[in-house]
Amino acid sequence: MSGFTIAISALIAACAYLSTIRMIPRFKDMFIKAGLYGKDLCKREQPQIPESFGVLIGCAFLVAMFLFIPIPFTFEEAALLDVKTGAKPATFPHEEFAEMIAALLSICCMILLGFADDVLDLRWRHKLLLPTMGTLPLLMVYYVNFNITTVIMPKFARPLLGYSLDIGIFYYIYMGMLAVFCTNAINILAGINGLEVGQSIVISASVLCFNIIELALGHQVDCHKFSIYLMLPFLAVSLALWKYNKYPSQVFVGDTYCYFAGMTFAVVGILGHFSKTLLLFFMPQILNFLYSVPQLFHFVPCPRHRLPKYDASTDLLHISTTEFHPEKLNKLGLLMVLVLKKLKLISWQQQSDGRVITNNFTLINLVLVVFGPVHEKVVTQFLMGLQVICTLCAMVIRYPLASYFYDT
Ligand code: UD1
Ligand code: MG
Repeated sequence: MSGFTIAISALIAACAYLSTIRMIPRFKDMFIKAGLYGKDLCKREQPQIPESFGVLIGCAFLVAMFLFIPIPFTFEEAALLDVKTGAKPATFPHEEFAEMIAALLSICCMILLGFADDVLDLRWRHKLLLPTMGTLPLLMVYYVNFNITTVIMPKFARPLLGYSLDIGIFYYIYMGMLAVFCTNAINILAGINGLEVGQSIVISASVLCFNIIELALGHQVDCHKFSIYLMLPFLAVSLALWKYNKYPSQVFVGDTYCYFAGMTFAVVGILGHFSKTLLLFFMPQILNFLYSVPQLFHFVPCPRHRLPKYDASTDLLHISTTEFHPEKLNKLGLLMVLVLKKLKLISWQQQSDGRVITNNFTLINLVLVVFGPVHEKVVTQFLMGLQVICTLCAMVIRYPLASYFYDT
């Protein structure tokens, strides 16, 4: 029966793709009239592009999910009503039903909060608080349904810590932080056409492949089916958005999409019980976050926009820069920039007055530091390629290598 529900999910996803692809162009003017637009900073004329299309995409996803909900909870064997009495069977999957509703509540909440961020341009501390709040319904359902807070130790740590360790409340803190990380990590690996959607498409396709492999192996079938039900429509609406957001962008996704995508991944990772594997698919985002730490925590000045600088004469992207006096940085900040300089991971131009000019610490700028000025489209393709390579590495770590650390 699971083949049937997955087929229906795929069918609904295909319909969501077709209707979203038709809807996006029709809403462009409406968004501009509502003042929802941004300048495409990496173009000669810096055209006004309608922004926050994540809200439309998120709604299309929610509608697809709402239409799908009755399928597993009406036609699946465990949920079938008694033909004679019409009574609900004792096997009705109440827990899975609650999970699905809580998952959609968290995602819906995040779309709302992301849209608020787009409209109100919230401060960074709010960007950390919002996903934490959005994830509470999810944590609640996890608490009621599972409340499993035991972590299996890798083989090498077992002599010291035992086979498993109950980390209690810290497991909930970890899950909350996972949602904060996923939402913001996509939002800060952004600023060139197609990148936010491109990375989300690769991640969701990777999650789907992983779910299908696990289903085929017969591992935790219900968890992986649950993830597929969410990932299929997510991938479909993201592919529709990609058509209009890829270079040259006709629409921008806004923070709404970044939050929506991040929360959807966090939801499947948490309720699908594969948050560690999910983090493997987030390797480029983790690298970008670690590289960004000196600027995110203000050890080094962080401008409002860190996206690359456009050169109109060559149509190429150059690094965008920040500057500081090394002697004015605190000890930790200085240590960080010196390590990055030593590893040749940042550009370094010492001025006669002692100032240092470096690139902004983002993966996009790092690509430009290593390869020199390149076209915007090429940078997006490069970073999407990196995302695919990371998925392949993740699969190697997850399957052949994991057996060295865990009993698989
Ligand atoms: C995050 C980044 C910021 C980056 C911005 C780009 C951090 C701490 N913040 O901020 O450095 O500049 O995303 O999205 O890393 N834009 C383009 N082309 C694109 C996409 C966006 O020019 O392909 C510009 C547009 O002017 C658009 C704006 O970026 O209006 C959106 O920025 P916003 O999402 O508000 O920035 P943040 O998420 O706060
Ligand atoms: Mg953003």
